[in-house]
Amino acid sequence: MPKIGVMTGGGDSSAINAALTAIVKRAAGCGVEVVALRRGWAGLLEEDAVPLDLGALDEHVHVGGTRIFTSRTNLAKIEGGLEKAAANLKKLGLDYLIAIGGDDTLGVAHKLCAMDAPAVGIPQTIDNDIGETDFSIGFATAIEVATDALRRLHTPNYSHQQDMLVELMGRDAGWIVVYAGLAANAHYLCVPEVPLDVDDLVAHMRARREAGKPYTLVAVSEGITVGGQASAGDVDAFGHAKPGGIVFNLADAVKERTGTKPRAVALSYLVRGGAPSAWDTLLATRMGAYAVDLLREGRYDHMVAARTGEIVAVPLEKALARNRTVPAELYEVAQSLCKAI
Ligand code: F6P
Repeated sequence: MPKIGVMTGGGDSSAINAALTAIVKRAAGCGVEVVALRRGWAGLLEEDAVPLDLGALDEHVHVGGTRIFTSRTNLAKIEGGLEKAAANLKKLGLDYLIAIGGDDTLGVAHKLCAMDAPAVGIPQTIDNDIGETDFSIGFATAIEVATDALRRLHTPNYSHQQDMLVELMGRDAGWIVVYAGLAANAHYLCVPEVPLDVDDLVAHMRARREAGKPYTLVAVSEGITVGGQASAGDVDAFGHAKPGGIVFNLADAVKERTGTKPRAVALSYLVRGGAPSAWDTLLATRMGAYAVDLLREGRYDHMVAARTGEIVAVPLEKALARNRTVPAELYEVAQSLCKAI
């Protein structure tokens, strides 16, 4: 019986377990066994492999996070890591590999393909920044959670007539801020793609008060810079800075100009957790099933992608060529709607 190894790497999100469930169901339907490599690429390196069947997943399909754990292990940074991983695939009797994760995880899958390890990728990240796909697994649920949080934050700030800055994850991409900010009717959007002009923000806060609006709710991407400074975070195994907390610098910068410090809150991991939305579950389910089909058709080194409602395959190399950030036109429209008084 052919065997598929499946792993989840990088930052978790909701709907991963739905993808795993679809993979197991689709594989079972065509007589293929599925084995989980646990804890991201570490599982392949350390041969942490366990059979994955519906019994292990049934109760988790509607649960967030990943049932088979994740890590940010970078095989390319470990001496002989890629070679050992490719050899372990054979040793474990795995014919194919499905990697679920962001650009870092999928980049390793692409490297393994070049070493004769047949793999396909499924895009999964709340950041929604993977190229060639309109949506990645986890993004839709993150939008629901962030929108709900922002909507809730309108009322206490209105009651207390105070301004509030709300930081949202997303690393170098402002997708969560633009989508959730727009859906929740935030009053100003700060995204990494567009340099922040603190004076413009302050002028907008003043303009709102002059127009009789007692508060301003600002959605802030964790990846922005304030006065040229990014947040001081750690660096992960892939060399990416881990942002977080810049919203407090922004609050200080506003206070320097107005004398009043706005309230600041960083939602951080809250946006990554919780049960997947129906839309996210469906996306993950369709992508999981499609990944199995790709392997059966011998279309390796591809990533499953969502394009205008269709699920399609794109070469991994193309998907990884550049990060997908918020286009200037989309930001401009979203910001103008949010700023309208
Ligand atoms: O890439 C997903 C993400 O949640 C980013 O939005 C965030 O900057 C990063 O992961 C956090 O990394 P970690 O889970 O390692 O703290």
